[in-house]
Amino acid sequence: MRKSVKSRAFVPTMGALHDGHLSLIELAKNYSDEVVVSIFVNPLQFENKDDLEKYPRDLEADSQMALTAGATRIWAPTVEDIYPDKPIIISSGKLGSKYEGVNRPGHFDGVLTVVDRLFKKVVPTVAIFGEKDFQQLFIIQKWVRESDLPIEIITAPIVRDIDGLALSSRNIRLGSDGRESALIISKALYAARESSDPAATMLALLASEPGFTLDYAEVIDEETFEPETSTTRKRRALIAGWVNGVRLLDNMQMRAQV
Ligand code: PAF
Repeated sequence: MRKSVKSRAFVPTMGALHDGHLSLIELAKNYSDEVVVSIFVNPLQFENKDDLEKYPRDLEADSQMALTAGATRIWAPTVEDIYPDKPIIISSGKLGSKYEGVNRPGHFDGVLTVVDRLFKKVVPTVAIFGEKDFQQLFIIQKWVRESDLPIEIITAPIVRDIDGLALSSRNIRLGSDGRESALIISKALYAARESSDPAATMLALLASEPGFTLDYAEVIDEETFEPETSTTRKRRALIAGWVNGVRLLDNMQMRAQV
């Protein structure tokens, strides 16, 4: 893989592909004629064994979808390919234990460890990550910058269904009543974006939906990933919570403060 091309775009995935992933592949085509898509369910980023075992796997269907979207190469390594020995875990630092990290200790360390291994094998010039997992994106960008890796990280916007729900492999488990309840998340984000007090607006709306259980709803500074302050230039609202036993995540950039 190393020798043949100058640019190489890379879309790492864990499979269970949906239109959100396909938009990453579409975007990747703007950066290189070679688009590598990896499909690897990374055991290191699952703190719950059951979740790992239940993770949907359909390599044939995923490969077909990725190729149709424009991938030029699919790489589906085994656990032994990626971790032939006990891996040295890459730390995601303090941020790795905030927000998503509260519920998922070690999750972001697992993500960085696998992304490092994937990058070493694929040797991309460009890698595409979605804004849906905004904390993951921030942590990866910071790590790439601090490690001085010669890889450009391209970010792709969230893809939403027509009703506003952010696409996720988990949506299928919501059921129709769950899906109705889950819509409160994007409604709260859109309302927050128009509000002079985004945090209060989204908290009030989220509390009005009995089918939704809140984990956190916060407005952060996109440049620091700390809670917003009066000097924040770019702020983003993050929401995480539960509907029908399914954990959902979403986020949206808020308007600048006036
Ligand atoms: O976002 C994902 O699908 C995963 O966290 C990633 C980046 C492929 C690492 O396993």
